[in-house]
Amino acid sequence: MGPGHIDVGGTVADLAATLEDLLAVESFDPPAGFTRRRPVDADRAAADADPQAFWADAARELLTWDKPFTQVLDDTKAPFYTWFADGELNLSANCLDRHVAAGRGERVAFHWRGEEGERRDVTYADLLADTQRLANGLSALGVRAGDVVGIFLPMIPEVAVAMLACARIGAVHNVVFGGFAPSAVRERMEVSDAKVLITVDGARRKGRRAPVKAAVDAELGELPALEHIVVVRGPGENPGEVPMTPGRDVWFDELLAGADPDCPAIPLPAEHPLFILYSSGSTAKPKGILHSTAGYLLGATYTHRMVFDIDPDTDVYWCSADVGWITGHSYIVYGPLSNGATSVMYEGAPDYPDHDIWWRIVEEYRVTVFYTAPTAIRSCIKWGAEYPGRHDLSSLRVLGTVGEPINPKAWLWYHLVIGGGRCPIVDTWWQTETGSVLISPLAGVTPTRPGSATKPLPGISPALLSEDGEPVTEGTGILVITKPWPSMLRTLYKDDDRFVETYFSRFGPTTYVVGDAARLDADGYFWIIGRIDDVINVSGHRLSTAEVESAIVAHEAVAEAAVVAEPDEQTGQAIVAFVTLTGNRAGDAATEAELREHVARRIGKLARPRRIIWADDLPKTRSGKIMRRLLRDVAAGRELGDVTTLRDPAVMAVITEAVRAAHDDE
Ligand code: WTA
Repeated sequence: MGPGHIDVGGTVADLAATLEDLLAVESFDPPAGFTRRRPVDADRAAADADPQAFWADAARELLTWDKPFTQVLDDTKAPFYTWFADGELNLSANCLDRHVAAGRGERVAFHWRGEEGERRDVTYADLLADTQRLANGLSALGVRAGDVVGIFLPMIPEVAVAMLACARIGAVHNVVFGGFAPSAVRERMEVSDAKVLITVDGARRKGRRAPVKAAVDAELGELPALEHIVVVRGPGENPGEVPMTPGRDVWFDELLAGADPDCPAIPLPAEHPLFILYSSGSTAKPKGILHSTAGYLLGATYTHRMVFDIDPDTDVYWCSADVGWITGHSYIVYGPLSNGATSVMYEGAPDYPDHDIWWRIVEEYRVTVFYTAPTAIRSCIKWGAEYPGRHDLSSLRVLGTVGEPINPKAWLWYHLVIGGGRCPIVDTWWQTETGSVLISPLAGVTPTRPGSATKPLPGISPALLSEDGEPVTEGTGILVITKPWPSMLRTLYKDDDRFVETYFSRFGPTTYVVGDAARLDADGYFWIIGRIDDVINVSGHRLSTAEVESAIVAHEAVAEAAVVAEPDEQTGQAIVAFVTLTGNRAGDAATEAELREHVARRIGKLARPRRIIWADDLPKTRSGKIMRRLLRDVAAGRELGDVTTLRDPAVMAVITEAVRAAHDDE
């Protein structure tokens, strides 16, 4: 029996033994018995021969155009590329109308599962009906093509309706992750000049309820551009009074009820802006990553069907991400809907009401394709194989991961315990900026290596460069993409200069600098190492050190702070903050708790430092710059690098001791 044909019956101890054995296996052929439904070999050949012709063919085949394009790529203003620019289409028509017109209106788009076990099946016809009404409702509120609409909603079908309704009338959506604090919502509404915000009365998480509208109201204050707030009645009982400002605020259901049911999809130019999604960068100011319509939709559609081998007639697909991240945009909403697939949408947490809820859902809906993050897999490992063991997972045929490098042990556990050894694993590498997956195995085609995202998809040209721009054909280097691709970001919202500076200044206007380091092995497999900028990846979520630092420093007791990552088994990386307090204040447990809460309020819970180290001084160069490199070393327990450039080398000895003491306390 070779790899990929593992019998995972038996006890957890048997499993652990199998896992240990398999850690020595370097490469896994596609599991025998896996039948691929979507042939892809011809794509690779076509894309290698002529990438532009390949993308043009794919755009004609996969998307429905109101006006066919004649231009493909325009690279004359690099790095401001356009794709299919003279074509016209409507994204919501591609995701809804064309399926309904083909007689598939009764197909379930989302099997929605509420956190308290509620079930709601939403068909393509249902989505189309609600989308048209909301599109008309938004128009009635004054929203026009090009206006920005903020969306701050939990995982409920209305979030997809909100996004699609914007796309239908050419409004640009700006979704804010539901786990962010209301102050982050305010910031994102303000910097994008949002005209309308769509939010919810209250939210629930693991049995607890929290008011959302009231909290948002308290933060929003006066935003000159914001004219209306649309409020969805969320599932479950509403926590307390919902403040509604007459003339400004309107209930979602009342808006729909009063709206005309017909809203024809208007043809929009291929390059019409579709959405902004704020993501963390090297500075405290989040980057408004802007995607446009046709290229983005092509990337999401093509990769969703090809990477996961989706057959919309038979597969039941489930991506466990939140719609507030790019993964949710591309692989919960746009890719699956454009392909006419049936998905599961789950509102809740993976450990409520019990640790087997995901697997209960897989069994109940006979999920065939499951896509999650390594951090979630590591949590499942911690909880134990008995939870998935309670359920019949035999429907699964493809498993995916995204967000951070997956360690081989978690990969194997996923392969064995969840996939029963039958399912290819696709480790998909991509970013908010790339719009869709760029480096990944194709399910059932690419031999996989645990921990490697393997090879570029057809039409994608990644490469590694050394610090001075020399190509690296084997070994580690800076990851770049050397040719434009349709779903790439078009710019940073209202900040073309920062767009060029961030991605295209280091190696010129035709080389996209990813911000990750990677290793290329002798067989051309890519192994992503991690970020090379000041971005921390906590549980697959991007956070900027500068953003967390400025939140901490905003606290009145803090004089100075430096934030770095420490490796963490559970979350990949965790945040460590080195903090100097004002005056002679000494750090204590109460202040630590207060600071963590302060960061949660300003950014969101996931930005809370795992550890705060009190320091009378931080390591600084003679010119006063904080040397984060040394703090990273000390947080990771590594030997310290060169300390001779420090203004006061003794500072590091004190800090090293404080870190050691903090670890000893655990
Ligand atoms: C990291 C998430 C290793 C990487 C879709 C990237 C990964 C950043 C992988 C983007 C993977 C994402 N293996 N690292 N399969 N997928 N990353 O914008 O550092 O939230 O630059 O997009 O996550 O994070 P973002």
